Amino acid sequence: MATIRLGDTAPNFSADSSIGEINFYDYLGDGWGILFSHPADFTPVCTTELGTAAKFKDEFDKRNVKMIALSVDGRASHNEWIKDINETQHTIVNFPIIADEDKKVSNLYDMIHPKADNNLTVRSVYIIAPDKSVKLIITYPASTGRNFHELLRVIDSLQLTAYHKVATPANWQHGEDVVVSPAIPTEEARSIFSKGVEEIKPYLRMTPDPSA
Ligand code: BEZ
Repeated sequence: MATIRLGDTAPNFSADSSIGEINFYDYLGDGWGILFSHPADFTPVCTTELGTAAKFKDEFDKRNVKMIALSVDGRASHNEWIKDINETQHTIVNFPIIADEDKKVSNLYDMIHPKADNNLTVRSVYIIAPDKSVKLIITYPASTGRNFHELLRVIDSLQLTAYHKVATPANWQHGEDVVVSPAIPTEEARSIFSKGVEEIKPYLRMTPDPSA
């Protein structure tokens, strides 16, 4: 079992999926990726999550993020379950679900937490940058469905801070003011951020979202 930390290279793998054999890196190409695990097929919370994820695909596409789910059941089971998801969630599942029957990928990504459940994966989320580095890890318990608005919000923050010397404050949403990186002196910040810099404290400087 591997421990994956922020900044590590996301391990590559080949695995069966609802759309056939997949190589993870080939699937991601040179864009961003989001890998999220589900405890099992034909479970209620997972059904709502996958339906929601399918409805959010346009938003992930806009941000150049490829989605890929995982559950520890096989391809035939996934494809039967997908019919139920499409029917009950009024959508079409439009991304692959890894069929991780032998738990190879779950173990590689440390998605099984034995004290929570010995056999099923917890709800892990990994966001992976184009250079294949891991940018975000979140772990939810099986009983809590994920908030896909929050995942998009984090991707907006990650993509903004990858290109600008800023960080995003609590509850930030795209378009709202951001924090100037602490490493930049205020005078330098004023020359970098043409929209202006407000110095609230020497360590707390705000500037309008440079991407908005
Ligand atoms: C669910 O997806 O509904 C679920 C899965 C495992 C445990 C609890 C809930």
